[in-house]
Amino acid sequence: MGEPERAIDCDGLTRSFPAGVALDALTLDVRRGEVLALLGPNGAGKTTTMRLLNGVLQPDRGTATVLGLDPWTDGEAVRHRTGVLTENAGLDERFTALENLEFVGRLRGMGGDEARRRGGELLERFGMSDRADVRVQGFSTGQRKRVALARALLHDPELLFLDEPTSGLDPAATRDVVELIGSLASDHGRTVVLCTHFLGEAGKLASRMAVLFRGVLHAFGTPEELARDLWSAFEVRLDLGAAASGPLLARLGELGPVHGAAPTSSGALVRLEQRDDIPAVVAACVAAGAEVYAVEPRDPNLEDLYFAIEARAAGTVAAGAP
Ligand SMILES: Nc1ncnc2c1ncn2[C@@H]1O[C@H](COP(=O)(O)OP(=O)(O)OP(=O)(O)O)[C@@H](O)[C@H]1O
Ligand SMILES: [Mg+2]
Repeated sequence: MGEPERAIDCDGLTRSFPAGVALDALTLDVRRGEVLALLGPNGAGKTTTMRLLNGVLQPDRGTATVLGLDPWTDGEAVRHRTGVLTENAGLDERFTALENLEFVGRLRGMGGDEARRRGGELLERFGMSDRADVRVQGFSTGQRKRVALARALLHDPELLFLDEPTSGLDPAATRDVVELIGSLASDHGRTVVLCTHFLGEAGKLASRMAVLFRGVLHAFGTPEELARDLWSAFEVRLDLGAAASGPLLARLGELGPVHGAAPTSSGALVRLEQRDDIPAVVAACVAAGAEVYAVEPRDPNLEDLYFAIEARAAGTVAAGAP
């Protein structure tokens, strides 16, 4: 039997806490060697998803296969082959940085010498050599995160769950970690599930994105697929030399393909159905006596998509509420 092409497959994963449903029937897959970004506002269910898939939290319903294994009956085996960076780093305060790594290395089946050697290398990699033998107790947020990242990579796992790996890191460390994550996937074939609030980071690293909102998956696919799904409209920036007048905006709004027109300091931002609608808009401007200096199409960026998904999700929730 060959290795499954998918690193993760989950179907209908559901988990509630006393306060309510944290994850509601999540179905998705993660391909081997891809970086999947899990996005969503605070409390959306991202960390819950990671904990379920790594077998440290039981679902109420649903199934999952992680590296061909069941994370709840084979949790130990799954954790041997996965690296986890938890949100709060979760280091043992009483131990030094290196001792923290050694301890987990042994749990993951490494010999003491090997864990120390590899731990030392990784601490150096993350600029923490000088603190290897210092107790974690007094470490800053970023220093803890570096040690925790080293710990996640220690046993060279094939699948990584990284929960907000760059939050708390300074810009140089952030850039370094983003590059590292990218090369883990593209050069070393590792699979990464990445929770992040930094959309630029997701855009740079992720081949697909899953957007959760109040425990429900609202969008899943490549950024291009999400754009097609959500962004059927086409936006252009009109440079008219001055802000569009009220009558001109009203006139544009009456055109069939125009979904909306808002003034800007130098003209207007107009949402159309498609590129073919641009000439009619220019003609309407000219007919109204406006001078058109430029028409610039604007592609949606990840932030636009994210907020569009959030708005749609919030609408769904509001419509379903009593
Ligand atoms: N151990 C727990 N006990 C009780 N409630 C929990 C527990 N873990 C998660 N929850 C609840 O489940 C929901 C989802 O939480 P989760 O931590 O998965 O969100 P998240 O998307 O990771 O948010 P953030 O961006 O803030 O990290 C929240 O309402 C949270 O309060
Ligand atoms: Mg979280």
